[in-house]
Order: sequence, then C-alpha cells, then structure tokens
Amino acid sequence: MPRLPPALLRQAHSISPQLHALLPACRDLQSARSELRWIREHALSSSSGAGQPSNRHGNAAVARLVARRARGEPLQYVLGSQPFGALDLRCRPGVLIPRPETEAYVVHLASLLLRARKALGAAAADGRPLRVVDVCTGSGCIALLLYQLLHRGFPGAGSLRVLGLDVAPEAVALARENLERNVRRGALPATALEGGDVRFAQADLFSDGEWNSAVGQRGGEIAGVDVLVSNPPYISTQGFDRDTGRSVRNFEPRLALVPGAGLSQGTACAPEDVFYARLLKVSRVLRPRVMLFEVGDMEQARRVAQMATGLEQSEQWHVEIWRDDPDLDGNDGLREEVLNGRRIPVRGSGHGRSVFVHRVPELVT
Ligand SMILES: C[S@@+](CC[C@H](N)C(=O)[O-])C[C@H]1O[C@@H](n2cnc3c(N)ncnc32)[C@H](O)[C@@H]1O
Repeated sequence: MPRLPPALLRQAHSISPQLHALLPACRDLQSARSELRWIREHALSSSSGAGQPSNRHGNAAVARLVARRARGEPLQYVLGSQPFGALDLRCRPGVLIPRPETEAYVVHLASLLLRARKALGAAAADGRPLRVVDVCTGSGCIALLLYQLLHRGFPGAGSLRVLGLDVAPEAVALARENLERNVRRGALPATALEGGDVRFAQADLFSDGEWNSAVGQRGGEIAGVDVLVSNPPYISTQGFDRDTGRSVRNFEPRLALVPGAGLSQGTACAPEDVFYARLLKVSRVLRPRVMLFEVGDMEQARRVAQMATGLEQSEQWHVEIWRDDPDLDGNDGLREEVLNGRRIPVRGSGHGRSVFVHRVPELVT
C-alpha cells in the first residue's frame, strides 16, 4: 500500500485532527470527510436515542468511533450497519459484512426468478410455495433480500418460504435480528416474520444429521428446495494471507472466508472448492431447480461450472458464469467458455463472481 504524502496528512490535520486520524484507513481526503460525517451522525442519533444529547457525550462517542476506525476496523462494524438493497442490515464483529457485489447478483437472480414466476409455480393450483434455501447465510443478507424482492411475485403468506442456514450461532442470531429489524422498519412485510415465511437455523453443511433436521424430508422446515443459493467460504489459506486486505484479515471472521482445514480430505477438489462439491452433493437429494453460488474469481468460476456440468442428467442443466453486474453486458473478455465440451455463457463484466445452474427452460435468456 503506498504511503500517504505528508502534505496530505498536514492538510487533513489543519482541517480536523479526527480527519487526520481517519486518513490512513480511508486513504483519501474525500472518503475521510464522508466517514467522519457518518460517524458524527451515527454518534448523534445514538446519543439522542439514549436520551443524553449532551455535547460532551456526543464528542466522547465520536472520539471512540474514530479511534476504532483509525485502527482499521471496517466502517460497517464501527457504525453497526450496512445498506443492502432496500434493507438496512446490522453488522457485528464475528459475522461477515455483506458486500455490494453480492447484492448485485442477488438482484439479478430475483429479476430472473420473477420473469419465470409462472414456470416456478407462482400460480400453481396446488398452492405449493417457492422454497428458497440460503446456505452460509451470515447476516441473512441474501435470504432477506431475495424475500424482499420476490414476495410481491409470490403473494400471500406461505407462497414464498426462505430458510437461511449457518454453522455459526452468532450469524444465526444476527440474521434473525436483521429479519425483525427490517420488518419493524417496513422494508419487509409482516408475513416474513409472523407467517414464518423467513426462518434462520443453525446447521453445519457438512453434518448429515444437522443438515437433515434443518432441510431434510423428515420433519424439516422445508421438505425439498426450488432455489439453492450460497456464498460459502471460498478462499484458500494462501489467498487469505496474500490477497485479502488487512482490515478483512484482522477484523472479519476467518470461518466465513476460508474452508475449515480437513474438510477436503478424501475429496478430489482443491480445499477452497470443497463447499461447492458438498453443495452439489446435497443438491442430488434436495433436487433444486435453480442454484447460484458465489465464487472468488474467474478461475474458481470455471472449476465450479465444470463440477456442475458433471451433475446427473447433465443435459437438463443449464450452466452460466456471471461476472460482476451480470445484468450489464460488458465487453471485457470472453462471452463464452467451453468446459467439458459444453458451451457455458459468461455474463456481465469485471470479476468472475458467481455460477448459475438451473433446469428451468424459461430462465434461459
Ligand atoms: C462468505 S460468508 C457469507 C455470509 C453471507 N451469506 C454474505 O453473503 O455476506 C460464509 C458463511 O458461511 C458460514 N459457514 C462456514 N462454515 C460453514 C458450514 N460448515 N456450514 C454452514 N455454514 C458455514 C460462516 O459462518 C459464514 O457466515
């Protein structure tokens, strides 16, 4: 990381010592100014909410928050929240911060599902709901945004059921808090909570027992699945040490980013791909019609797409790679990959971000 010019540091100090303190974490004056403004607004709203709007309390709170941010703690943990689509999500150390790239492909997935809603059973005479499972749910961002974007297309309590699963109890607790918070704010309809349309549960994807009791056929919350989504841990140990920023390494949970040691033992895949192998394995039992998995880059996207071409009855499955912003046609690089003799469309522009697998003809664009 390049050093900051002393003249810039002096300029920041002459405006405010707090701006100077924020500059190394923010890297430029414009960002430091914006962050200081958000920190002040946050401190003001928190202290007035607590009924103690005195200047002294407000200033002490700003100083504490600035000091945390200056140590490199992500702004979302310092402020305690992050917008995600129309939602406002609580963020806490111990649970991954939702990323804008994730929001972009979730919005695109929802628009495709809405376009194919008839084929997906929105008007099904048997009243069967569309069942969505989000594995590795973290803050609940994917599960909650999908419900928010889809519920009008699948109207009525019980027509859309979303289940978010995570091995970490702190993630499940935060996801539930985010559900309640967004229903309270009016960003999600009451059916999400009272009707039990959105639920979160603790389950380890690699434990057959926990997995079956969460989503299994016998007494589980969702018997079978239509849409299986996941943003799993997908970074290798070396990638974590070499490529992630200091603030990610020091403050975000490693469990959310790097697959646990030993999970890939006895499998043919790279350690960082082990969650995809497991997700595709459980898909044989759950029989989803649509799957979407976030990946780290184009190389991993190719490996995961290749795994998906090996699914049973592979001719029924349509596989695509999505770069960032899959709804925008970019002109960087190939528009198609050939893997296992199959032509795999590549959509969007920028980094390889997700792999989309489905067997719904109406979803082919
Ligand atoms: C990359 S984060 C994704 C969080 C959230 N879905 C998002 O997009 O921000 C991965 C999540 O997987 C969870 N996780 C790790 N190992 C798991 C396992 N064996 N079974 C289920 N969840 C797991 C972590 O606790 C973490 O919340």
